[in-house]
Amino acid sequence: TSVKGGIRERTLIAVKPDGVQRRLVGQIIQRFEMRGFQLVGLKMLQVSEELLLQHYTSLCKKPFYPSLLQYMTSGPVVAMVWEGHNVVRSSRMLVGDTNPAEAPPGTIRGDFSIHISRNVIHASDSVEGAQKEIALWFQSSELIEWECCDHGNLY
Ligand code: PPS
Repeated sequence: TSVKGGIRERTLIAVKPDGVQRRLVGQIIQRFEMRGFQLVGLKMLQVSEELLLQHYTSLCKKPFYPSLLQYMTSGPVVAMVWEGHNVVRSSRMLVGDTNPAEAPPGTIRGDFSIHISRNVIHASDSVEGAQKEIALWFQSSELIEWECCDHGNLY
């Protein structure tokens, strides 16, 4: 088969508790599907503090860290793994700047959020970061390899 290089790149996307509460999960999934990316993992979970400590290790000294923990544990999160060529970088573009005030209309944060403390969605920021985050959030048995019938139209 003519599977082209790089199309197996993966990223972790998480709809944060505000996004779930506001019923944005469907619209968010739709944007990734519309773009042509392939869903390979999906679950809803109540995130533990242990997971968040590992996920946000580099932020533990930040003044906003306690409120970030509180926010992220305030309700269920929908975690997903998306696959495709340049999916890490393209997802960051779909999601928009971390600070919603800097996120252009048309991006998820630019369309659905106002303040950095309630910015609806997380997206991995590098390929290496994505690999670590996926291993942290998902068991390998929860990730499904499947052949997408329209790969020939995308690549
Ligand atoms: S930093 O300070 O540059 O390392 O932080 P940044 O890369 O901008 O953001 C890292 C994650 O922290 C979240 N964040 C916040 N959460 C709550 N309140 C405040 N004030 C705040 N500032 C930053 C931000 O959304 C990033 O989370 P993720 O899940 O990666 O989007």
